[in-house]
Amino acid sequence: MVRHTGEAPTQAFRFDTADGLRDDVFSQLAAGVATSKHPLHLMAVATSGTDGRAEARYVVVRAFDPTARSLSFHADARSPKIADIGRDERLTLLLYDPDTRLQLRIAARATPHRDDERAFAGWISTAPTSRIGYAQPFAPGEALDANAVWNPPSEVSLDDPEARSRFVWIDCEIDTIDALWLNSTGNLRALLTWTGESWAMRRLGP
Ligand SMILES: Cc1cc2nc3c(=O)[nH]c(=O)nc-3n(C[C@H](O)[C@H](O)[C@H](O)COP(=O)(O)O)c2cc1C
Repeated sequence: MVRHTGEAPTQAFRFDTADGLRDDVFSQLAAGVATSKHPLHLMAVATSGTDGRAEARYVVVRAFDPTARSLSFHADARSPKIADIGRDERLTLLLYDPDTRLQLRIAARATPHRDDERAFAGWISTAPTSRIGYAQPFAPGEALDANAVWNPPSEVSLDDPEARSRFVWIDCEIDTIDALWLNSTGNLRALLTWTGESWAMRRLGP
């Protein structure tokens, strides 16, 4: 596929059956995880903030498990999003690929892992450059003096106890996927819902 040219999308999506759309959406999510330049490598994660206002931020999608129906990311335990998740596990995940013109608005529930086996597996799979952020003394969003300085180390050991204890791996179990495909021959939209056993699909007005 030609990317970022503004040309008409070459990828077609099946909106006629739940399984067809599920397969198409899942293959896009898998491609997004696998390729750092892919638009679906990033997702906006929306939480409910302390005063009820929606909060959103981009994260890198670190894993997609079609069997568990989960997308995963990692974050600093000190970051406000982790407190948001602690108060309310419900997330909206938003992804868009301008090349295929597919938007995915996903309702999910978050399970954060810290200091457990899953967190450790995530920690050791993390790129050395990603680990450095977990060594920073400043909490994400903390107010700093204008002259605050931190010189990041060139690398952070896998055994660094502080950095490792701040690392949280978050699995987001998908409940519904609202798929919107902007298509020159007619926009298409459908809601995929996990029933507990299979995926059900309902077409929606775009
Ligand atoms: C391209 C990009 C990728 C990012 N990836 C992550 C990530 O994987 N995990 C993360 O916690 N924050 C990531 N961030 C930073 C978040 O967007 C956010 O600024 C930070 O985590 C603080 O969020 P919070 O204050 O809402 O908790 C990324 C930001 C950008 C711009």
